[in-house]
Amino acid sequence: MTQDPLVVFTPSGKRGRFPAGTPVLTAARQLGVDLDSVCGGRGICSKCQVSPGYGEFSKHGVTAREGALSDWNAVEERYDEKRGLAPGRRLGCQAQIQGDIVIDVPPESQVHRQVVRKEASTREMVMDPAVRPYYVEVAEPDMHTPTGDLERLAEALKEQWGIGSVTAGISVLRHLQPVLRKGKWTCTVVLHKGHQDEDHRILSIAPGFDETRLYGLAVDLGSTTIAAHLTDLRNGTVVATSGAMNPQIRFGEDLMSRVSYSMMNPGGDLAMTAAVRTAINALTDTLAAEANIQTDQIMEAVFVCNPVMHHLLLGIDPVELGQAPFALATSKSVSLHLADLDLTSMNPAARVFILPCIAGHVGADAAAVALSEAPDQQDELTLVVDVGTNAEILLGDKRKVLACSSPTGPAFEGAQISSGQRAAPGAIERIEIDPVTKEPRFQIIGCSLWSDDPAFDAAIGKTGVTGICGSGIIEAVAEMRMAGLLDSKGLIGGPTQTGTERCFAEGRTHSYLLYDGTETGGPRIAITQGDIRAIQLAKSALYAGSRLLMDEMGTDTVDRVVLAGAFGAHISPKHAMVLGMIPDVPLDKVVSAGNAAGTGARMALCSVAARASIEKTVREIVKIETAIAPRFQEHFVNASAIPHAADPFPILRSTVPLPDVDYNTQGDSGGGRRRRRRA
Ligand code: FES
Repeated sequence: MTQDPLVVFTPSGKRGRFPAGTPVLTAARQLGVDLDSVCGGRGICSKCQVSPGYGEFSKHGVTAREGALSDWNAVEERYDEKRGLAPGRRLGCQAQIQGDIVIDVPPESQVHRQVVRKEASTREMVMDPAVRPYYVEVAEPDMHTPTGDLERLAEALKEQWGIGSVTAGISVLRHLQPVLRKGKWTCTVVLHKGHQDEDHRILSIAPGFDETRLYGLAVDLGSTTIAAHLTDLRNGTVVATSGAMNPQIRFGEDLMSRVSYSMMNPGGDLAMTAAVRTAINALTDTLAAEANIQTDQIMEAVFVCNPVMHHLLLGIDPVELGQAPFALATSKSVSLHLADLDLTSMNPAARVFILPCIAGHVGADAAAVALSEAPDQQDELTLVVDVGTNAEILLGDKRKVLACSSPTGPAFEGAQISSGQRAAPGAIERIEIDPVTKEPRFQIIGCSLWSDDPAFDAAIGKTGVTGICGSGIIEAVAEMRMAGLLDSKGLIGGPTQTGTERCFAEGRTHSYLLYDGTETGGPRIAITQGDIRAIQLAKSALYAGSRLLMDEMGTDTVDRVVLAGAFGAHISPKHAMVLGMIPDVPLDKVVSAGNAAGTGARMALCSVAARASIEKTVREIVKIETAIAPRFQEHFVNASAIPHAADPFPILRSTVPLPDVDYNTQGDSGGGRRRRRRA
C-alpha cells in the first residue's frame, strides 16, 4: 500500500502525512502550523499564501516533484489577475497536496509572526492581537427554524472559526440585518477578546469580505508628555508616532501638585480629566491624518501611565494617591469601552485596555517597562530606570524584581532649567568641554556638525541655537564636572578659580557661558547655579530610589543598567554616570532601551498573551514606597554630590577625570580653597 504524501512546513519543521487532495491550509491547521486566514479558506483574503519548494530536501528527507501540488485553480487565477500573486506563491487554501512537498510559510502569512523591533533592543514582538477580523458565510433565515440573525452568525463563527461564544452590543444589532442582506449572507466581523474575557465581542460588521485595515493606538501617557504610536494590528508596524504636551501641566507641573489641585479645587479632577482626554483625541486625529487612515479604523487603544495619570484618565479622583497608604482604586488591568472615557477620535466601538498598576506610586508605565525590559528573565542583576518627570525604577533578575518610583521632577526634560527646552531642532543635545582651555563645543538637534566646525553657522541657519534639551543639560553638568568647572558639591567656580572668563558672576553664584548668539539676535545660553541645583535634585531622587532597591535586594552593586524613557535613548551613559544618576558599572553594561513604557504598551496592544503575562508578573513584583522609606532621605542627601558623597564609583574614576576641586567660597576673590589634586 502506498503511503499518503508527506508534507513538511518550514520554518516550523512540522510534518505529517495527508491524503492526496488535502488543501495545504487544512494540513497546516491540523499540524498546528501558524498559517493565517481571514476568509476561512474561500480564496478571498490571500492571507494564506505559501511558497512550495520543489527538488531534493535531504535535510527533511523529502523529494518534491513537479505536480506535488494541484495545478492553479480558477480562484488563484482570478486572484492573480485582480491583485497579483508573487512568483512561486500559492494560496494555501486552494493548492491541494498531491505528493511529498516542502512548504514555506512566509512571515507575512504567519498570524503569530515575530516582528523585530526597530529600537535598540532586538527582542522580538509576537502578534496575537485582541482585535481581529473574520470573514463568515451565514445561513439564511428559514421559516422552519426561526432563529435570529445574530444566532446564525454566532453559529457560523463557531463552525467556520471555532469561536465559542460571541456577544454583540446594540449598535452591532442595529446594523446586523441590513449588512447580512447587503453581503448576500456573507460578512466580515471584527471581534475582540481580551485576556480575561470569556466571550468574543463583536465590535463591527461589514458586508462581504472587508479588507479595511485595523489599527490600534499604544499610548504612553506621561505627566509632562503624551506619546502615541499608531500601529497596524496585522503586523505590529508603527505607521505613525506623535507626541503632545500633557495639558494638565497648567494644573500643576508634577504629580503631587496635580493631586493637591484636585484636593483644593472642587471639580479640579474633572477639569484635568477633560483636558487630557481632549489632548488624546487631538493626538489621535493627528496620527490618523499622518498615516492617511480614517479614525474609524482604530479599534483599540492601550494606555500605560503612572497611577495619578491612570486615575485622571479614568475620571477617578486621585485624592487617595496623595496620602499614605496610597490606595489605588484598582491595581488590576482595566478593559473598557471607548465611550466610557469620552474619547471620540476612534471607531465608536473601539476598546480600551490599561495595563495594571504595580502600586500606589508605581503605575502601569512601570508595568509596561517590566513587560518590555523583562528584568524577571535576566540572569544578571538588572537596574531599569525609566527617566521622566517621575522615574520608574525596577531592580531584579530571575529570582525577584523590586520596583519603586521616585519624584525626579521635570528638570531632566529641560524644564526648570534657565535655557531648557523640549528636544526639538535647535536644542543643544551634545556637549564637550575641553579640560585645558575650558572651551565648549556642542551639537544641536537637526545638525550633525559640531559647533566648532567652520560650516556650523551656515548649517544651522534655519533653526539657530535655541536652548538646551534634557540630554544636553546632563552632558553639560557632567562635562563641567570633568573639566573642573564644577566641584563635587555642585558649585560652579568663578573665573579666577577655574581660569576661564566663561565662568561669570551672577549675584552670589557663578554661571558658565555655553553660547552667546546675541550678536546675531540669538540667545545667550549659560548653565546657572540654579540649573545645577535643579539637576542635582532630580538626579538625587533618581539615585536614591535605585539605592533603596539595592538595599532591599541586599547589594551594593548591580550588573547591568538599562536607561529607558522618552529620552533614555539619548542620554550618554558616561555623562549619566559622572552625574551620578545611575550606580557605578562598566560603561558597556549601560544600555539604552528607548521609550520602554511605549514599547511595553505596543507589546500589550499586539498580544493578548503579553497582557496575561504582565498581569501575572505585576503581582509578583515587590513594591517599595520611597515616600515612607526611612533611608530614602539619607540616600537622597548623599546622592546630591556629583557623582556621590558616599559611594566611591571606582569604575567611573578609573575611566574619567573627576578633578578634586572645591569652590565653597564667598565669591571669586582669589581666596577660594582651590585644590587641584588628582582624584
Ligand atoms: S484563506 Fe483566504 S485566501 Fe486562502
